[in-house]
Amino acid sequence: MRTKFAFLLHPRDTLRDDLRQLLHPAFGLIPDRVLQGALQHLPLPPLITGGIRYDDAPDQQAGWLITVPLSASQLLRLPRAHVHGKINQAVDRARDLGASVVGLGALTAPATLGGQVLQERRDIGVTNGNAFTAAMTHLAVERLLPSLPAHPTIALVGATGSVGSCLTHLLAARTDAALMLIARHQGRLDALAADVSRPGLRVTTSTRMDDVRAADLVVLLTSAAEALLRDEHLRPGAIVLDDTQPRNTDASLLRTRPDVTIIDGGLVQVPGMQLRGTIGLASKVAYACLAETMLLTLDGHEGHFSIGAPGAHKAAHMLDLAARYAHLGFHLAPFRSFGRLLPDGALGSAPRPRLLERA
Ligand SMILES: NC(=O)c1ccc[n+]([C@@H]2O[C@H](COP(=O)([O-])OP(=O)(O)OC[C@H]3O[C@@H](n4cnc5c(N)ncnc54)[C@H](OP(=O)(O)O)[C@@H]3O)[C@@H](O)[C@H]2O)c1
Repeated sequence: MRTKFAFLLHPRDTLRDDLRQLLHPAFGLIPDRVLQGALQHLPLPPLITGGIRYDDAPDQQAGWLITVPLSASQLLRLPRAHVHGKINQAVDRARDLGASVVGLGALTAPATLGGQVLQERRDIGVTNGNAFTAAMTHLAVERLLPSLPAHPTIALVGATGSVGSCLTHLLAARTDAALMLIARHQGRLDALAADVSRPGLRVTTSTRMDDVRAADLVVLLTSAAEALLRDEHLRPGAIVLDDTQPRNTDASLLRTRPDVTIIDGGLVQVPGMQLRGTIGLASKVAYACLAETMLLTLDGHEGHFSIGAPGAHKAAHMLDLAARYAHLGFHLAPFRSFGRLLPDGALGSAPRPRLLERA
């Protein structure tokens, strides 16, 4: 019998839409402002809003999706004790259901410092899912390289974060592209740049979104809950890979910048997954952080895994696990833009075999 997992989610600030889909159509009638107030002030428990089984064991529940009753901006802005209390309640629920690992989806990871706030817990393993997210984003970047000009510049916005720093290490070890590391705190950027520096690698840092205009490929990895990337930040023909949830790109960019290609990042194809409920993605597609949680329990992992910023060795371990459970899928999803599949060959070629090896 396989061990089980739980995965934490939360609604975005578009509460009416999200709660309508997650819970009941009647929520579509209630204004967002009223719902924000209810979530902030009512003692709402975490809710089970979905479940997952696998094609090779359809009679067994593999895991549960648990919704933390706070919006994206509440997770970032309410007093930490309140937010951590709500997330701990959801983790208690996961443990009581019998999960051995709980994954921290979307902003539940940044809100707990990548899970560091939960690492004293010994009753359940915690992972922020960011090792596999970085590994899959690395594969996506490698796949996009042939579509970029010679000697490209890649901007990593949110480079010092949990996904960002793991991805920066993976890229710095393997690419000849120039890397531009972007976040708000210069000291952390300088430390990361020094950490990954090697002869021949061009690394610059910046705290200004305007500098993104020098990049051919922009990878979005911040914990900001709003659309940070605007049309004036993008050079003609730029490609954007947006890993963020809630996303840092707005669909209006498709209209204002038709020259730019925006790709939904951090997505994994899992054809062997049977999902009950919604995660807002196409059928058989999972967030990479959810896929990490699934892979860990398929492999019987015990204890915590990705906490804080996972090292490149953890990304490599996750690629090994993805290869071990390839009969269920766990490979990079075909590129989509705001949920719409991009035509075959529109960007990038099939991943080169060596890139499917260890990162
Ligand atoms: N698709 C997936 O499967 C998947 C999986 C995991 C995570 N994610 C998403 O990836 C994102 C990052 O998660 P994480 O856990 O790595 O977060 P994190 O550890 O909190 O890192 C956030 C990074 O963004 C920077 N940042 C925050 N606000 C910013 C702003 N306004 N402007 C510029 N930089 C800013 C932070 O540095 P400063 O504080 O110095 O600015 C830091 O470098 C989240 O949206 C998360 O939901 C997606």
